[in-house]
Amino acid sequence: MFFEPFRIKVVEPIKKTTFAQREFYLREVHYNLFNIRAENVLIDFLTDSGTSAMSAKQWGALMEGDESYAGSQSYEKFVAVVSQMTGMNYVVPTHQGRASERILFHEAVKEGDIIPSNTHFDTTRANIEFRGASALDLVIDVAKKTSFLHPFKGNIDIEKLKILLKKTDSKKIPLCLLTITNNSCAGQPVSLQNIADTKKLLSQYDIPLFIDAARFAENAYFIKMREEGFQNQSIPDIVRKLFSYADGILMSAKKDGFGNIGGFLAFKEKKWVDLIRNFLIMTEGFPTYGGLAGRDLEALAQGFKEVVDEDYLEYRGRSLEKFGSSLKSVGIPIVEPVGGHAVYIDAKELLPHIPALQYPGQSLVVELYRMGGIRTVEIGSCMFGKVDQFTKKEVSSDKELVRLAVPRRVYTQSHLEYVVDVLAQIYKKRNALKGFKIIQQDRYLRHFTAQFEPL
Ligand SMILES: Cc1ncc(COP(=O)(O)O)c(C=O)c1O
Repeated sequence: MFFEPFRIKVVEPIKKTTFAQREFYLREVHYNLFNIRAENVLIDFLTDSGTSAMSAKQWGALMEGDESYAGSQSYEKFVAVVSQMTGMNYVVPTHQGRASERILFHEAVKEGDIIPSNTHFDTTRANIEFRGASALDLVIDVAKKTSFLHPFKGNIDIEKLKILLKKTDSKKIPLCLLTITNNSCAGQPVSLQNIADTKKLLSQYDIPLFIDAARFAENAYFIKMREEGFQNQSIPDIVRKLFSYADGILMSAKKDGFGNIGGFLAFKEKKWVDLIRNFLIMTEGFPTYGGLAGRDLEALAQGFKEVVDEDYLEYRGRSLEKFGSSLKSVGIPIVEPVGGHAVYIDAKELLPHIPALQYPGQSLVVELYRMGGIRTVEIGSCMFGKVDQFTKKEVSSDKELVRLAVPRRVYTQSHLEYVVDVLAQIYKKRNALKGFKIIQQDRYLRHFTAQFEPL
């Protein structure tokens, strides 16, 4: 038995829509759910980023924001909380995760460099490639098998990293980045042993280890639950231990900071702050506010204290696990084990009659909205399909997934049960679902703006 470890103090109404209205809205936006008005969505599982519900204490903290341009008290509070939580000596706020990436890579990464990772998140990859460098994913092979059970499916493959380090001039590898949890691999966690082994190996080559820590608390919870020797350790102790192996942190506080906006960079050594300071001031703001208002810093400082609460993390983990097993019980194939922030449906397995280039994931995304007003996102050939340079033909992605990202502290168990009911109905009529064709698309990140037509 478990339940939400909070009571609801402020509510936001959900506007009900009819099947016919949703059919109309879908046509109006050419079947691209990014263009649906949020007020016409019943359950919004588009992302867990920036969509958390803040606590009463966070709302209270907003009023204490010190909006001084430099040296504000809110900054001092923010730094104290982040330093205590991470063990990092130097903390620089930024307005969100990708700003941290842009600022660090602008100074630390140059053309021709290679940045190995377990798996880079899209914006991380884009910011590295924008510098003319390569973003290399070295996740363990089993991560590619959707139903293979492994407790730490987000781990970097130490053998692959060893090979890379042996054959590459270490001056070309300015840093290695571990993403915890591994978002692009279905939110799968990374073990502490894997973080320690990565650090040990990198030290032989004098290469710094950075952690992309967007979901560090969810990762720490998985370590406590699954890794030998951590069952009796507190979450804050595990968090400090995992960061102790890092030279620096890139953070989007829109996930495990319970923030609607915000991020930071943190370092063990001062040389990194000296390196980025100029570019930070030019593009983000003075180092004591870094693109955030004092009130945001206050809310985030409080959010970081709340996210490492074990009751919250246990509820979060168990609620997602139950959501995943309920979906399986009505026949829906999912990526297993369930990760930290989302359940991923395997649309290729659910809709085998729809070819990859007729976008089975998009078909399911559309049907979830049509049947239940539920907004999700396709992570398959719409997002990652590419036109081959030589044949000029479109090449599909290796997976066709649909992500149901669950915002933190926003939806109750009955909302999740409603989604399971809708998917149970879709399962029964799955053979009648049809594919889509793309009728208009942009050159980059086409899934945000593409227009579709049903086949
Ligand atoms: C692992 C990871 N890193 C970086 C980012 C980028 O953060 P932001 O959206 O705050 O720019 C995200 C966002 O989803 C993420 O999941």
